[in-house]
Amino acid sequence: MKKIQIIDSKKHVGEKVKIGAWVANKRSSGKIAFLSLRDGSAFFQGVVVKSEVDERVFEQAKSLTQESSVWVTGTISEDARSKFGYEIHIEDIDVISEAVDYPITPKEHGTEFLMDNRHLWLRSSKQHAIMHVRNEIIRATYEFYNKEGFVKIDPPILTGNAAENTTELFQTKYFDRDAFLSQSGQLYMEAAAMALGRVFSFGPTFRAEKSKTRRHLIEFWMMEPEMAFMDHDDSLEVQEKYVAYLVQSVLDNCDHDLDILERDKDLLKKYTELPYPRVSYDEAVELLQKNDFDVTWGEDFGSPEETFIAEQFDKPVFIVNYPKAIKPFYMKRHPERDDVVLCADMIAPEGYGEIIGGSQREDDYELLRQEIVDFGLNVDDYEWYLDLRRYGSVPHSGFGLGLERMVTWISGTEHIREAIPFPRLLNRIYP
Ligand code: 4AD
Ligand code: MG
Repeated sequence: MKKIQIIDSKKHVGEKVKIGAWVANKRSSGKIAFLSLRDGSAFFQGVVVKSEVDERVFEQAKSLTQESSVWVTGTISEDARSKFGYEIHIEDIDVISEAVDYPITPKEHGTEFLMDNRHLWLRSSKQHAIMHVRNEIIRATYEFYNKEGFVKIDPPILTGNAAENTTELFQTKYFDRDAFLSQSGQLYMEAAAMALGRVFSFGPTFRAEKSKTRRHLIEFWMMEPEMAFMDHDDSLEVQEKYVAYLVQSVLDNCDHDLDILERDKDLLKKYTELPYPRVSYDEAVELLQKNDFDVTWGEDFGSPEETFIAEQFDKPVFIVNYPKAIKPFYMKRHPERDDVVLCADMIAPEGYGEIIGGSQREDDYELLRQEIVDFGLNVDDYEWYLDLRRYGSVPHSGFGLGLERMVTWISGTEHIREAIPFPRLLNRIYP
């Protein structure tokens, strides 16, 4: 008999098959038992009719406990009442392992309880759908950049210098020296862009941020393209094309998951329409002040401010040219103004906040060296980085997209902790 996965049911309608599965849920009456089965690939219903099977099989079905693992054999049929569309009429059940007192029951549980049981919580249908969306975003990222002629480069995770805010560095011992966990692969990606032109990275990054918001993780995954001979406006075009591509890919390939997540697909469809609006930091401050926000020029925006600006548009929006003083050392000064830099944050709609941070990089040796000094960084640690400006410096730009921010937004999830299998949060490293 053919062993199949639930997801392939449509190819086996009318056939007798064998499936390895877990019992997600169960209800039964005197004559019929309905098992909600999951095998990792999908969830569907198994039907056991008392009058059609051995007494032993029906009793077995009725006594199955939640999350017990089983082999079921039966015939696949269409099931118009379910969103999945197929079910199995069970003839036989073989218990592989009985689960006793599975902690996550169909009733509501508190978040902390679910987080303590994250290793089990991942089995639930909503988490399953979010992981599919995450996987699709990763898949589509590789597809997009390969199509666009980018080369995947893997920057190191153990580094000797800071790329972003030094207060958020994770320090560790590197034999008898100090090292840091990467906050961003960017500086290395700039070196790679000088060797390969257009490159992208995709890997874990670490920020010892004392933030406890629904947008912050301590360990998260970032996608960082870097492009030689591209100015900041060129980079914005790549950014919006990339984000629209991700949204479209999820719409195309995660339809069922979006249903499970009850995500508004018409809304998502709108986010594929280009271009995305651009507003300057100056304009944003003006807009906020007119609407009674207590902001002064030169301050960074918090999430209420970002949310308000995003609400003025029905798509992601770029806020460009932030004050120099609140951005990292490597950003290129605006050609006509000393006080702002050539950078942008892409703000997602619906209150999801910043999903991309990017900029044109300072390509002038003297200016960059001075910035490193002014930021209180040790120039010796950055000699290799300065070499990129000594030997054939070119205009170049890049950006970083936070994978989990993107997943949270596209799946319409409330909190970023559900967008990564095992979140590392301010107060949590278990499980
Ligand atoms: O804006 P950030 O800090 O930019 C950089 O690190 C640049 N070096 C990227 C580059 O130009 N190559 O971070 C980029 C993105 C943010 O827009 C956000 O999506 C995500 O990374 N991010 C976080 N995601 C989850 N938790 C955190 N603590 C995050 N910090 C940043
Ligand atoms: Mg940022």
